[in-house]
Amino acid sequence: MVDSARVIDVPVLDDDPFDPAVLVDPYAFYERMREAGPVVFLERYGVWAFARHTEVAEALGDWETYSSAAGVGLADFRKEAPWRPPSLLLEADPPGHSVVRKPMLHLMTPKVAETLRPAFSAAAEELVDTLVNRGEFDGVTDLAEVYPIHVFADAIGLPEDGRHHLLPYATMTFNAFGPANALRDEAFAGSEPVIEWATAACQRDALSPGGFGAQIWEAVDRDEITAEEAPLLVRSLLAAGLDTTVGALGNALFCLATNPDQYELLHADPKLAKPAFEEAMRLESPIQAFFRTTSRPVEVGGAEIPADAKVILFFGSANRDPLRWGEHADRYDVHHRAAGHVAFGAGVHVCIGQFIARLEGELVLSALARRAATLRLTDDPVPKPNNTLKAFRHLPLRITAGGT
Ligand code: HEM
Repeated sequence: MVDSARVIDVPVLDDDPFDPAVLVDPYAFYERMREAGPVVFLERYGVWAFARHTEVAEALGDWETYSSAAGVGLADFRKEAPWRPPSLLLEADPPGHSVVRKPMLHLMTPKVAETLRPAFSAAAEELVDTLVNRGEFDGVTDLAEVYPIHVFADAIGLPEDGRHHLLPYATMTFNAFGPANALRDEAFAGSEPVIEWATAACQRDALSPGGFGAQIWEAVDRDEITAEEAPLLVRSLLAAGLDTTVGALGNALFCLATNPDQYELLHADPKLAKPAFEEAMRLESPIQAFFRTTSRPVEVGGAEIPADAKVILFFGSANRDPLRWGEHADRYDVHHRAAGHVAFGAGVHVCIGQFIARLEGELVLSALARRAATLRLTDDPVPKPNNTLKAFRHLPLRITAGGT
């Protein structure tokens, strides 16, 4: 319940968080929001925003107040039809959400991720070997995009043919969480074959035996999910598990290339690969924000947010909030304990693929650290604006060979 006696005026900002210039460098905007108060109102879109860690974490932990069922983008699914059938996980609330999440969680435990280690590790070693021999390469198109498409698409059991549709599909999905702007239009231009491929790739007969996709379909045989639900759950993996890890790997390479002292520490002790990846997830979070919709009036920091309001949770800002991370919140530090960041979300929707993403990050960074003495940018990185994801399109890199 809202205690009206304590209601305060909420700061109103006219910034456009979906302006490409803001999307590729949002940090000054985040700072202004955090300094303005625990909650601000973004008048351009008529939405409320949380940019501090405390409020973002609280909202993630309270699905009963902050619902996902009306969509986790700007659109309210109760007022406008979504572009595709809503996700049974991301765009759903308990109890239905819990029913389908349970079998998915069994597929994606830390133990299962460990069984993938030998194959994922061999692929990382081989790819990094080739790049060290080349000396100069594009951190995105030669590494961050190549690796997850190879290892994760294999782990799902996706057909080889048509895998080039995976990134355009994910780019559409993540741009679609934003407004109907040019980025969204561009991502959807010529999308028919992409959607057609993705829909066909989620069917039982397209998926190779033993992969995550086939295992999801086996849950139908055990009556844990229905045959209508299975392809939508396979779709969740292709939509959520590729572009995010591509972004994460590229962002981690960017952090290391622009902080040579930190790369030196990693090179000297490749066991730092795990924390180095985690710290990059905090500092350059691949998913910058998702929305919720209030199911009741709620008081936040003395402000009243009405029911049925869209609230944008800025993960990327919470992860740099000095109130949570101290005065060096903007610094990349491989020894920093980044635990508590919300780059994988939190609460009932916390990322089910986090152990797989972390495995990929650890293996790529440790393979690099053991083979390359230095890692530097040779030119300006080219950002890839997206309504939800923060990532690079190109990252021109040079590495010099040198074992630890
Ligand atoms: C670095 C890479 C990744 C990042 C940054 C990331 C981030 C996130 C975030 C922030 C959420 C929470 C969404 C919310 O609260 O509304 C989430 C959920 C989810 N993620 Fe990930 N993710 C990554 C990798 C993966 C991978 C590899 C998979 C597949 C194996 C995956 C599958 C999912 C699914 C299915 C959900 C929805 C869970 C639910 O709603 O219950 N993600 N992810």
